[in-house]
Amino acid sequence: MIAAQLLAYYFTELKDDRTKKIDKYLYAMRFSDETVRDIMCRFRREMENGLARDTNPTSNVKMLPTFVRSIPDGSEKGDFIALDLGGSNFRILRVKVSHEKKQNVQMESEVYETPEHIIHGSGTQLFDHVAECLGDFMEKKKIKDKKLPVGFTFSFPCQQTKLDEAVLVTWTKRFKVSGVEGMDVVKLLNKAIKKRGDYDADIMAVVNDTVGTMMTCGFDDQRCEVGIIIGTGTNACYMEELRHIDLVEGDEGRMCINTEWGAFGDDGSLEDIRTEFDREIDRGSLNPGKQLFEKMASGMYMGELVRLILVKMAKEGQLFEGRITPELLTKGKIETKHVSAMEKSKEGLSKTKEVLTRLGVEPSEEDCVAVQHVCTIVSFRSANLISATLGAILSRLKDNKGVPRLRTTVGIDGSLYKMHPQYA
Ligand code: GLC
Repeated sequence: MIAAQLLAYYFTELKDDRTKKIDKYLYAMRFSDETVRDIMCRFRREMENGLARDTNPTSNVKMLPTFVRSIPDGSEKGDFIALDLGGSNFRILRVKVSHEKKQNVQMESEVYETPEHIIHGSGTQLFDHVAECLGDFMEKKKIKDKKLPVGFTFSFPCQQTKLDEAVLVTWTKRFKVSGVEGMDVVKLLNKAIKKRGDYDADIMAVVNDTVGTMMTCGFDDQRCEVGIIIGTGTNACYMEELRHIDLVEGDEGRMCINTEWGAFGDDGSLEDIRTEFDREIDRGSLNPGKQLFEKMASGMYMGELVRLILVKMAKEGQLFEGRITPELLTKGKIETKHVSAMEKSKEGLSKTKEVLTRLGVEPSEEDCVAVQHVCTIVSFRSANLISATLGAILSRLKDNKGVPRLRTTVGIDGSLYKMHPQYA
């Protein structure tokens, strides 16, 4: 009994000692409350710059008008098709909304592959592929003879002048398709569908995934006025007073603004909190110098951030007795889903051992504790960053309403948010 207690005592001590050392090592990734508040203030200024006519052209945070003017009120009904392109999966859905007896939403969906040669190919190939998948879906659901209204969730920054027009500003995340930037994606998709000639579709609206999230949440909860995605990429939208949106005519009512907060920091405004690891991630990315906030916070980069930290620590002899393997040195070998698994409260430590063993580094118990702690710091930093930018949006909503206390609902979705055991 005493021996067991002693062992437990030493292990806790050892664990404490190890985590303290790592806290010190990664101090630049652990923000004080003051830093979080400071980032919040900086983002609030960015939002204001993006909204104002004079500063919008040079603003990194684009604050794009979406032409969505209200949140659903739950009375909507109909038979629709939804396309969802740009997240971790390309999905097509049929959604039937009715009110017989009580509110009723039926959904059927299919996931389609978007192979590497498509997301790094030409615009024609991409939209031919989307049109082909849509044709396959309609065939499967036996609705090829119907002309159903299509809602297109396209998770990239788009300039809109109406709901059914969306000009791609720039690709982000894993996509880099030639000949689409500066073009209206509705026109491109319509053209691809016409060219086939085997079915008809009526693309009624293009929305960003954040807007889709806000509206889905708003269908059940009228108080929802913010939508956030924490997945492959990260972004948020919220309902802004029309009188504050210089780029859109009119003063009455509100409009949803897609902030594109992933680009926060692209003008150098986050240099004081970026680390050598963030710079390395950026250098090796498809879009160097762009989406710097996204690269610190979203799922596409978190696993790689952890890997880069482990490589450095191993090289300095602080992990794995200095063992470095080709796997550990391979880009992409640690994915964000692994980070989530390693942070699980019960099986986390054994998962960590599994992940590290697969990298061939023969980890000791102590190494596993250390690596788990590295994961926690990287995830926690991401959550801190998002809390700062969300705080800015909420404080703006509060000021807009002129209330002493804000009561609101935030709709949140995305693979990182949903899969990570501690994130929420
Ligand atoms: C990227 C895109 C943005 C999207 C987000 C989440 O940041 O630029 O439009 O909302 O990823 O998918």
